[in-house]
Amino acid sequence: MKGIILAGGTASRLHPTSLSVNKHLLPVYDKPMIYYPLSTMMLAGINEILIITSGNCLDDFRKLLGNGSHLGINISYATQDKPNGIGEAFLIGEKFINNESVCLILGDNIFHGTDLKQKLCEGVNNNNLNNGATIFAYKVLDPRRYGVVEFDSNNIAISLEEKPKNPKSNYMIPGLYFYDNQIVDIAKKMKPSDRNELEITDINNYYLNKKILKVTELGRGTAWFDCGTEDSLLSASNFVQIIEKKQGLKIGCVEEIALHEGLISKNELSTYLKDKESNYYDYLKSFL
Ligand code: DAU
Repeated sequence: MKGIILAGGTASRLHPTSLSVNKHLLPVYDKPMIYYPLSTMMLAGINEILIITSGNCLDDFRKLLGNGSHLGINISYATQDKPNGIGEAFLIGEKFINNESVCLILGDNIFHGTDLKQKLCEGVNNNNLNNGATIFAYKVLDPRRYGVVEFDSNNIAISLEEKPKNPKSNYMIPGLYFYDNQIVDIAKKMKPSDRNELEITDINNYYLNKKILKVTELGRGTAWFDCGTEDSLLSASNFVQIIEKKQGLKIGCVEEIALHEGLISKNELSTYLKDKESNYYDYLKSFL
């Protein structure tokens, strides 16, 4: 399975903070935001990853993550000219996806929880070849600014709506999606919405109507954040700080995951850490 991290857009809700820096490079407590979705991909066992961002900040991403070899993974890059919608990721990534299934994660979505790895692996395994799609449902008090899923009494998904004024449930759909290889053809069929975007919810509705959409609940044990507003960005940073300080374990630490998943050796980590000094790098040195 291939992985795409979508990290473009204008992030106008965070202006002026994100005027001269791509939102996904802003800090969430002790590391850049993009580390978190990247760590989610790595936990899912996906090691070929395409980062899609806007053209003017490609070099900044390259400077931060390079080709991924220090993490034992392969990172490539593509650009999105304008925020034409989340669904455009599959058109931009067509060649990269090739004949495989694909996981898409939004670059501002952060996931943390005990059974997360198991849920991710289920997503990977469900959607090989032409088996359909897997998305997730997460209970929130106010789902109006998200994609929202409605379930019937047997817990089967029956409708999906993007940013509904009157949501039919409290279950929003986080920005983590697993698709089979039909996705590129399906994305090509989609028409832009009234706000002129290729909507991910339209794509998911296509899978729902074909009865090949699996919706898995992320329960109480999972924390989810997007970082699209000043409040959600601060909440995510506070959450990461509190957990990290309490446990002495980091969230979204991609080098640690690379080591624990066997993608790099201790020697390789040690070489990477040479001449690097900060609290973050000191934490990594403790694994050597
Ligand atoms: O966070 C989950 C929600 O994300 C879902 O529940 C919604 O169904 C989905 O539409 C999306 O809603 P948002 O309003 O949060 O989307 P936003 O436009 O803020 O973009 C989310 C991320 O994707 C952000 O990191 C920027 C990136 N993006 C977005 C668009 C539309 C791009 O890189 N290119 C784009 O064209």
